[in-house]
Amino acid sequence: MISQGLTGALKALPLVCALVARAVADDYRPAFHFCPAENWMNEPNGLIQINSTWHLFYQADPAANVWGNECWGHATSSDLLHWDHLPVAIPVENGIESFTGTSYYDSNNTSGLGTSTNPPYLAFFTGYTESNKTQDQRLAYSTDLGQTWVKFAGNPIIGAAQEAPQDISGGLESRDPKVFFHAPSGKWVMVLAHGGQDKLTFWTSLDAKNWTWVSDLSSSQIEGFPSSITGWEVPDMFQLPIQGIKKTTWVLIFTPAQGSPPGGNGVVALTGSFDGETFVADPVDPSTLWLDYGRDFDGALSWENVPASDGRRIIAAVMNSYGSNPPTTTWKGMLSFPRTLALKQIGSKQYFLQQPVAELSTIDGSLTSIQNQTITPNQTLLSSIHGTSLDIRMAFVIDSGATLSLAVRKGGSEQTVIRYFQSNSTLSVDRTASGDISYDPAAGGVHTAQLAQDNTELVHIWALIDTCSVEVFGGEGEAVISDLIFPSNSSDGLSLEVSGGTAMLRSVNVSSVSL
Ligand SMILES: *[C@@H]1O[C@H](CO)[C@@H](O)[C@H](O)[C@H]1NC(C)=O
Ligand SMILES: *[C@@H]1O[C@H](CO)[C@@H](O)[C@H](O)[C@H]1NC(C)=O
Ligand SMILES: *[C@@H]1O[C@H](CO)[C@@H](O)[C@H](O)[C@H]1NC(C)=O
Ligand SMILES: *[C@@H]1O[C@H](CO)[C@@H](O)[C@H](O)[C@H]1NC(C)=O
Ligand SMILES: *[C@@H]1O[C@H](CO)[C@@H](O)[C@H](O)[C@H]1NC(C)=O
Ligand SMILES: *[C@@H]1O[C@H](CO)[C@@H](O)[C@H](O)[C@H]1NC(C)=O
Ligand SMILES: *[C@@H]1O[C@H](CO)[C@@H](O)[C@H](O)[C@H]1NC(C)=O
Ligand SMILES: *[C@@H]1O[C@H](CO)[C@@H](O)[C@H](O)[C@H]1NC(C)=O
Ligand SMILES: *[C@@H]1O[C@H](CO)[C@@H](O)[C@H](O)[C@H]1NC(C)=O
Ligand SMILES: *[C@@H]1O[C@H](CO)[C@@H](O)[C@H](O)[C@H]1NC(C)=O
Repeated sequence: MISQGLTGALKALPLVCALVARAVADDYRPAFHFCPAENWMNEPNGLIQINSTWHLFYQADPAANVWGNECWGHATSSDLLHWDHLPVAIPVENGIESFTGTSYYDSNNTSGLGTSTNPPYLAFFTGYTESNKTQDQRLAYSTDLGQTWVKFAGNPIIGAAQEAPQDISGGLESRDPKVFFHAPSGKWVMVLAHGGQDKLTFWTSLDAKNWTWVSDLSSSQIEGFPSSITGWEVPDMFQLPIQGIKKTTWVLIFTPAQGSPPGGNGVVALTGSFDGETFVADPVDPSTLWLDYGRDFDGALSWENVPASDGRRIIAAVMNSYGSNPPTTTWKGMLSFPRTLALKQIGSKQYFLQQPVAELSTIDGSLTSIQNQTITPNQTLLSSIHGTSLDIRMAFVIDSGATLSLAVRKGGSEQTVIRYFQSNSTLSVDRTASGDISYDPAAGGVHTAQLAQDNTELVHIWALIDTCSVEVFGGEGEAVISDLIFPSNSSDGLSLEVSGGTAMLRSVNVSSVSL
């Protein structure tokens, strides 16, 4: 429909034709974030490292720029920066779409779908049958290190009838299987979401094919969990060490459809204990519950099978909360820059910490570096620096009551402003003048997050700027704000200013990021 509309406009108006052609050629395509070669993507699926290759699967409609005909798109990378686009991994077949799910290495061949010398990689996904609106759980496997995937002949592994007793929609809305092997119980565990329902269900299996329901986790079982956070989807679950104390805990993350600080969906993270059947959540502190305070970080999943020698838990999510509305024409939906997830005790609270993966630092595009310089209210720094894809890292000590403002993608009347308010330890991203915000009612706005750290010490801000996105990591990564922006291509300026006092810039490093 969209391309037919454009064709009509092009025939009628040669001037519009030139402008549209230019917009399409440029089309806000990110410089260092993954987006599909063409058409639609929503959240990542089945993230797994195999033989040192990072595999990215994602919900895709390979034939259109809107949600539909969902299948698992596929790309691989050796460094989480450069991605090779591969053919669809798990296609739509016999009218059954391949919705979201996860992958795991069946290293002991307990599924019997590989051999002991060549164990299989398993991909669990939700099958969606349009004709009867049924969602069920299905399995595919790979015996060639993730290159190609074969659907298990016995699918579905959990049918709608088996889901029905645990799902108020009678199994129509059971989806997004997260599956992992739980060594202490010697069983496979599946965590399922139930669309429009504020609960997850847990299932176990000896062979990853025959599954038994074992428990529910609902809102009312989690002390302190706000009841306004509803419609839980896309669970992930894994263990993380807690920095500073010699302890490891279970972590459960998921994406509620409603209730995030900036509105709409977002990603929450719980800690708790798990015995192989029941997740007992630690009491929730609403101030440390959300992984991201921007509008555009949804459906986060983590890479599995990362070797212990690496040891990182790396997550990524889709950036796009506006369906097909964003003003891109050849693609829709992009992946957040991959980020590490860690846990740390700061003061009396436990914080999830996120930072861009270190692979980013292998790109040497240094544009400027400021060291030990005081900035006063009558100064503007960085105004000679230009770029539309940047890595900006700052560390500063700021006067009581002062505000530091970093404007990015600045030009004409456009700018996106990252601010730090000392008075209330607040980090914010203001995209009210960021460029095109007409495409969706939620496209503008100011998003804020609290920095945990003592703000009489050094404050750290790490911002990744790309053609149509801003991701801001505050402190050690306990406050993150990720947003899409659609500035003019020519809005490539920067400025750094302070008001209400001065700031001592210990360092400000600006690098261009081009692959
Ligand atoms: C947009 O800007 C980038 C770099 O600033 C440039 O490489 C690209 O050609 C520009 N695109 C258009 C359509 O002008
Ligand atoms: C997998 O990795 C091993 C060790 O790095 C290597 O010898 C082997 O060729 C790789 N296999 C494939 C199919 O890439
Ligand atoms: C793996 O599964 C295959 C297929 O069932 C079977 O032939 C093989 O013996 C299994 N190996 C092990 C170690 O379980
Ligand atoms: C819906 O259709 C699929 C595919 O034919 C089938 O496997 C499933 O059992 C059907 N669901 C119901 C509830 O009839
Ligand atoms: C494979 O077996 C080993 C030894 O029993 C166990 O530690 C490991 O967790 C198992 N992994 C899977 C995926 O079955
Ligand atoms: C499935 O697993 C359950 C529980 O372990 C077991 O009772 C049942 O026999 C299994 N069914 C099949 C077909 O293997
Ligand atoms: C900046 O100041 C700090 C603190 O006084 C000092 O440790 C550091 O060496 C200085 N850096 C440079 C480049 O002068
Ligand atoms: C800028 O302000 C500082 C302190 O507010 C003052 O010391 C300095 O002289 C001013 N510089 C200029 C060029 O006005
Ligand atoms: C900026 O770069 C310098 C020199 O490499 C480094 O010492 C400093 O830690 C960097 N600052 C930040 C905030 O990353
Ligand atoms: C923090 O302080 C600034 C400056 O006074 C104010 O504009 C902002 O609304 C405050 N933010 C929060 C979250 O309190």
